Amino acid sequence: MKKIIIANWKMNLSISEGLTLVKEIKEKMKTKRQTVILCPDFTTLAFLKPIISGSALFLGAQDSAAQKKGAYTGEVSAFSLKSLGVRYVLLGHSERRINLHENASLINQKIKTALEAKLIPVLCVGEKLAEKKAGLTKKYLQTELKRALKGIKINSAADLLVAYEPVWAISTSSRQAKPLNPEETSEIHAFLKKELKKILHHDIKVLYGGSVKSSNAASFLAQKEIAGLLVGGASLQASEFIAIAN
Ligand code: PGA
Repeated sequence: MKKIIIANWKMNLSISEGLTLVKEIKEKMKTKRQTVILCPDFTTLAFLKPIISGSALFLGAQDSAAQKKGAYTGEVSAFSLKSLGVRYVLLGHSERRINLHENASLINQKIKTALEAKLIPVLCVGEKLAEKKAGLTKKYLQTELKRALKGIKINSAADLLVAYEPVWAISTSSRQAKPLNPEETSEIHAFLKKELKKILHHDIKVLYGGSVKSSNAASFLAQKEIAGLLVGGASLQASEFIAIAN
């Protein structure tokens, strides 16, 4: 099965750095093997479009607004993103939940609007260290899924993706912590897929994210429950990201 590899550049690159990176990725990647999605910041999206057209790379946004249009200063509409050629959108990333106080009902509305715009939402969920230590990981994830997906109906399993990103495992290189091991991750993925089937009645693909790098990517991708990877820090270097995707 083709795996899905998403690069989340966050707010790390200037437009020109993004363009340099994407040209190198396009040149060296055996993209047919995986579905590869690049999520630059909003300002870079439009510049990437002509470069990736004709390649097997797809565009993703890092967020989209809960509302369709109107007096929402600073927001970016899912419909505008769609018209730009964006196909995927990350929603509910823990950095937005924590730093920008995005709550479940806002994320739920963002997913609904993104689906209406015919974008494919990539819903990010993950427990914090406190929940993990208290043995509440599954309970917490179950609640996050239920709240984020309340009232949502999809027509096919391909309409939505979920990324499991334990908050404590994100960007650990600077903190010397370790990401979750692939076997443990796989067990949680099986749980999430079961819950998603109950809520959405489809077999939703679940990706893993959190300190993925070229040295551990293959061990995650070898797990059949893991449909792909959401890569942050390691997606900023062409050689590292290409090694993961190839
Ligand atoms: P990381 O980020 O790979 O740097 O841990 C992943 C993410 O936040 O999506």
